[in-house]
Amino acid sequence: MTVSKQTEFKPITRSFFEKEWTERFDVFYQTTIDGEKKFVKFAEYDPKDYSHLNAILDERQNEAFYIRETDLYKYYRFNILKRLLLELAQDKPPAREAFQRVYPVATRILQDHLEIPTSDEFLALLDELPLVLSESLDPENLRFYELFAITLKEDTIHAHCVNVGMYCLCLARELGMSRKDREEIFRGGLLADIGKKFIPMEVLFKKDALTEEDRQTIRRHTAFGKKKLNEQRRYSKTVLRMAGEHHENFDGTGYPLKLAGNEIDTAARICKIMDVFNALTSHRPYREVMSPLQALTLMKEKMGEQFDSKLLTAFIQYAGKS
Ligand SMILES: [Fe+2]
Repeated sequence: MTVSKQTEFKPITRSFFEKEWTERFDVFYQTTIDGEKKFVKFAEYDPKDYSHLNAILDERQNEAFYIRETDLYKYYRFNILKRLLLELAQDKPPAREAFQRVYPVATRILQDHLEIPTSDEFLALLDELPLVLSESLDPENLRFYELFAITLKEDTIHAHCVNVGMYCLCLARELGMSRKDREEIFRGGLLADIGKKFIPMEVLFKKDALTEEDRQTIRRHTAFGKKKLNEQRRYSKTVLRMAGEHHENFDGTGYPLKLAGNEIDTAARICKIMDVFNALTSHRPYREVMSPLQALTLMKEKMGEQFDSKLLTAFIQYAGKS
């Protein structure tokens, strides 16, 4: 059996087979037939008889293997998400534990979406997480330092996306926003930087000083993200505006449109605060990582004009409750 449509196939590593699969799926390898690259079925994964495939894989350790995107989608939808939602509904864990369980799932889905060429529908896997978290989140039981301790501080886009989403959700709850608004702001925070998928990695993670051209390229992630999310016709205006406006500054010096004050969507103003806060408190090759207190002090004293001061003060108060 050969198939030539490359976009359907996603590369997988050996550790992929150690995931909690419950369904069968086909494993492919890539080869060239008559000068054309094709994907050929190599073996079948059977969760009841993994040893057979394991033995074959041991013999071909240096080869790259692939699965269909539909199978990868099924893995998250039926193995990971379904189980997570069921367990959360049954256990009704306190907020900190709910975050602890949801966080790695959200980062894995976003990482796969950003690192392998999954289709846009793949992002729909994240749709149910805001509902779950929004319901279980009780700020009385969740101190900011506890949430902060759960989040990864690594220099990756997927960790940044999930952290921003989490922080947005917490402040939205603290501000007394409705459940629907909290879900939207969480979703928007998760997806605000999704346009970075379309920016070359060598520019995003360049070790040398950025040129003006590099800066212009990176700035396009706001427009790309908004456009891509809009094309999916599944996201609210709030989510689209968060993607498009999270680098606008309150004083009108941001990008891409130089909007100011109330011209910037409230959710995007919150997202801007979380975006900067997470960047300052995460590892970056060009500077020391900051503690939350150091980051918030810098944001208030040196960068205050960029933010909506009422929202920044609310966030500082919330973070300071720890
Ligand atoms: Fe951004």
